[in-house]
Formats: sequence, C-alpha cells, structure tokens
Amino acid sequence: SDHKQLLERLGLKDINPGACFGPGQHAPVREDNLVESINPTDGSVIARVSGASVEDYEKVIKTAQEAALAWRQVPAPERGNAVRLVNDALRDYKDALGSLVSLEMGKIKPEGDGEVQEMIDIGDFALGQSRMLYGNTMHSERPGHRLYEQWHPLGVVGVVTAFNFPVAVYAWNAFISAICGNATIWKPSPKGVLCCSAVQNIINEALADTDYPPVFTSFMEPTNDLAARFIDDERVNLLSFTGSSKVGRMVGERVAARMGKSLLELGGNNAIIMDESADIKLAVPAVVFGAVGTAGQRCTTTRRLFVHESIYDQTVEALVNAYGQVRIGDPLDENTLMGPLTGEQAVDSFLDAVKRAKEAGGKVLTGGNRVNREGFFVEPTIIEAENHWDIVQEETFAPILYVMKFSDIEDAVRMQNDVRQGLSSSIFTTDLRNAEYYLSHQGSDCGISNVNIGTSGAEIGGAFGGEKETGGGRESGSDAWKAYMRRQTNTINWSKEMPLAQGIKFEL
Ligand code: UN1
Repeated sequence: SDHKQLLERLGLKDINPGACFGPGQHAPVREDNLVESINPTDGSVIARVSGASVEDYEKVIKTAQEAALAWRQVPAPERGNAVRLVNDALRDYKDALGSLVSLEMGKIKPEGDGEVQEMIDIGDFALGQSRMLYGNTMHSERPGHRLYEQWHPLGVVGVVTAFNFPVAVYAWNAFISAICGNATIWKPSPKGVLCCSAVQNIINEALADTDYPPVFTSFMEPTNDLAARFIDDERVNLLSFTGSSKVGRMVGERVAARMGKSLLELGGNNAIIMDESADIKLAVPAVVFGAVGTAGQRCTTTRRLFVHESIYDQTVEALVNAYGQVRIGDPLDENTLMGPLTGEQAVDSFLDAVKRAKEAGGKVLTGGNRVNREGFFVEPTIIEAENHWDIVQEETFAPILYVMKFSDIEDAVRMQNDVRQGLSSSIFTTDLRNAEYYLSHQGSDCGISNVNIGTSGAEIGGAFGGEKETGGGRESGSDAWKAYMRRQTNTINWSKEMPLAQGIKFEL
C-alpha cells in the first residue's frame, strides 16, 4: 500500500528500535514493551517501536555524555556544518516526512510539510547562528583591565516533545543545541514514535560518513517511566519540555529540585480581539486557521475571540459560514482542511468541554458533535461564552472557539489577559492607537502578540514561548540559543597593579 512505501522510504520497519546511540547504533528490537503507532484517521496500527529498556536508557545517557565532551572541542561553525548536512537530507525527505507527520499525527499534509519546512528553516538559522554565539564586551571600571563574557556548551540537553508538533519542535531544540556544542537526547511523545524514528534515520544517514560524535540520540517508550528518570537525571544539564501546563509544572519543579535548567513550552489560551475598525475579511480566515488548523491542537490555537459589539453579528455570521465549508476527513487527502483529533481521550475531552460550556449557559453556534465515522473526528465548534467560565479558562486541545462580545477595548484586553496562560495573542484593528495600546506594556501580556495576523503559525526567526503558566521559556529564533549555553564573565588584569573594584582599598 501507499503507507508501506512511505515507511520504506523513511527506513521504517514494522517494528523499529526504541533507542538510538548514533548512526548505525540502535538498541536491539524486542517483541515486548511495544509502542503502537495508531493512525488517528481510522484507528489502525501503522507500525510499532520496541520500547527502550533501562539499560538502553543508560547507554543513551553515556553516549551523550561522551559525545558532548568531544563535540565541545569542535569549532562552532563546524558544528553548524553538521546541522547543514542534516538539513540537506531533510530537504530531500521533506515530502515523505511531511506525509508521515500527517499520517501519524493527523494534521493535513500541507501542515505536515510545513513542519518539515520549520525544521529546515531552523536548520538554516542554526547554521548562521553557529558563527554568532556572541558575548558582550564591557568597559572595566579599573585601568588595565578587560571585562567580557563568553558562552560555553552545557553538555547534555534532554528534549521531551509533544504529539502535536512531532518533528518541528525537536528541530528548534536539537539544531540550536547542536551548534551550541551540546549532545541532545530526544524523548518523543508515545504518539510520535514513527516521526522520531524517521527523523533519527535521516540524521543518521546524513552524518554516517562523518567523524562527528553521536550528538543526536533518542529513546522511546509506551509509558513515561523512563521520562520520569530523565527529568530527575542529574546528568541532563538542560531539560526542554513541551506539553501541558499540568505536566510542565511537575517537570519544572523536579528539575529545579536538582538545580538543573529547564525550558518550558506549556499550554496556551490564545485570544484574538477584533475591534470596531477591524477588517473582517482579513480577520475571518485568520480566525478559522487559528481555531481549526491542526484540529485545534496547536499550543498557539485560537481558543477565544473577543469581537466589538458593533461588528459582532456580522463577524459571527461570517465565521459560522466559513466553518460550514471546512472539509473534514483523511488528512492526506488534498481536499481536507481538518483531520482527526489524536485519540479517543481527545474526543472525550472535546465532548466534555462542549457539555460543560452548555451547562454554564453557552450557546453552540456551530458544531459540537463527534463526526459519525471511524477515527477520532469532531466538528469544528463555535460557542458563545463568557470569559470567566471554568471551561473557557482551560485549554482544551480541540477545535472549540469561544466567542465573546465587548464594547470597550480596555475591557477586551483585560479579559484576554485574565487567564492563567500567556502564549499567543492578536488584535485585528486598523486603528493605530488600538494597535499600539495592544502592544504596549498595558496591552497583551503574552509572549507572542500580533497585529492583523492570527495567533498560530509563528515564524522560526522570533523567540517562541509565553508567560505565566505557559512556562516562560523561549525557543527557536532571536537569542533563544542562550538557553542552551552557560554564560561566563571574565575579567583580565593586564596592568602591573592590583586595583579592587568599587574603589576598595585593602593594603597590607
Ligand atoms: C506548538 O504547538 O507546540 O506558531 C508549536 C505555531 C507553530 C509552532 C507551534 N510555528 O503555531
């Protein structure tokens, strides 16, 4: 079948190794402890991975520790070259890997391809950044002294990724981490094991003929037993975690307890505000993509919409109309705009959210039901709601958009910010004052704040992440690389005197 050919193209078998220690170095395949990769479109098993054992895990850690010692000796621009080799291979495999993302995760093919494009983009970015690991030079207050800072590798970086972006978020972390001089260990979601295996295969093939140390390793498991060990492991210098705020809080606390570093990309409860001057034609497709894209399973998904009362009815009508045109189905079918949710649990939490919103007094304007077919499909849903309701305050990983009316822009911004999460936000306005107010310190409290574009689909060049229960981490572009290095401040006295700072005299 088509799927078989796709798996073959990506070097995947019916049962794949559950840990990789570098090119050609895999854990033995065992028939127990299997992770089944389920196709969310029809519930069938695509292929399996043989879960890693404790011994496999130990071998991954030791491999990474040794690799890190060798890798830090390699000049950063040369490290960039390793990422370039991987990136060349990713360009060759873009179509196949994009299809696998679509098959295993359930996002539509253009979004699967888009994820691979994000990998390629961050790879290019990392290559350039490898020559720009800049530290500042400061002017010393003492004569004959030089004061500067430099950035050194951390050692071993652990990356735990979520099901919804099974390849791009790994690349943000791993490629930047690599040029920073670290060895990176990947632990994917049990729902993204084939994507992880495929990416690991591409990396291995790209680096097989080099003598670089194995800086890209991985392990997988059906449960989260080894993941818990990973989080508590003092040999992991930085733990980068993407997932829910609930689990992320636990990760942050446990890593902090061992004085490790963590980088957290957690939940969002992203809002769009449309003021009275909003260009509705511009806003509607952005809202629909933000709320319905990836079946509402992006951390940046638009979950709340605040519409000025003067354009409320018109906007809601246009949205309900647009939602009626969303074609639901097999994500690999080129006509589809919305694929399935990730599993039965996700369908349950969608149905539960709709029920709770109705109980609170919400009015379902469109959608609200499971789609009557195999797989995990639900209808894209719009519910008229109030911001303070518990269900509106929560992040439900499903295509539910809560719409709310406002009359005063300051109230709208207050409501937008009045949630525990702080990832992404946007305003649609043609009013300069409202746009600037929204981006000012009095405006949106989110890590990402946009004008006249939606909440999702950020470019890799900016720093990605959010405030409050979103975890505070920043990944991908700008100076996010600094999280993967340790900073050292250096003062050098090249004079023949020994003056003290702050003018202190200490004479014997
Ligand atoms: C995520 O959902 O975890 O901005 C990441 C976006 C994508 C990344 C989302 N570039 O929607």
